[in-house]
Amino acid sequence: MSTKLVVGNLKMNLISPAERESYLQSFQKEFASKKIDNTEVVICPAAVHLEQFAKELKMKAVSVGAQNAFWEEKGSFTGEISPLMAKNAGVSHVIVGHSERRKYFAESDEIVNVKIKAVLKSGLKPVLCIGETLEQRNDGSMAEVLTMQIKKGLDGVSALDVQKAVVAYEPVWAIGSDKTPTSDELLQVKILIRKTLADIYGLENAEKVKILYGGSVKADLVKDVCLEPELDGVLVGRESLNPNEFLKIVEIIDKK
Ligand code: PGA
Repeated sequence: MSTKLVVGNLKMNLISPAERESYLQSFQKEFASKKIDNTEVVICPAAVHLEQFAKELKMKAVSVGAQNAFWEEKGSFTGEISPLMAKNAGVSHVIVGHSERRKYFAESDEIVNVKIKAVLKSGLKPVLCIGETLEQRNDGSMAEVLTMQIKKGLDGVSALDVQKAVVAYEPVWAIGSDKTPTSDELLQVKILIRKTLADIYGLENAEKVKILYGGSVKADLVKDVCLEPELDGVLVGRESLNPNEFLKIVEIIDKK
């Protein structure tokens, strides 16, 4: 059985060192009371916290991810951090193309693509976020939108590299809304993602790419949004701010 993956996206939260420390302490305490055997947990704090998270979260099943990274390694790019900087801070994964980045920072599929390649070049694993808006869902273009986001996002990525990538299906309308797709709908999307990957890389390589669901994930929804459609895990936003709830999600997926 392949390992499951649960990613926590803390977004722009934990606004002081004190908040960070209390989060880390509570995370460690909750984690110590759990037995996680087959699930990798990646927790993604804001860039200023990456190093401290990596220093303090030393558990085998837990690693640290960045929420974003630039496509160049170093230089005059005010305000950015590079994948290599993130790597040197102890990071293993980088979220790329989150819908909030696409919306507030105008990240196009082309930008997502150069970032994915830069992340892979640094030896890190990209978590490529894709997802349709409500409008696209209603006007029938959803399958085309998702297919293009995958194709353009992974353009030029080799079959060897793609195996390190994770695809997170995050419908824009489900993020922060307490709405989620049904398990049947998620099964259909999973098949679509796998087929799109298989068309480019062949089935054997495509099957090595983990497919997650993200958007309003809560412990009592895990059965519907992950276990029933047999996804490889979830990407959790708000609920990851509460280590108790977050690790409950991890435990349910792990014990399946
Ligand atoms: P949410 O966020 O779980 O708070 O809906 C998910 C995400 O944006 O990754």
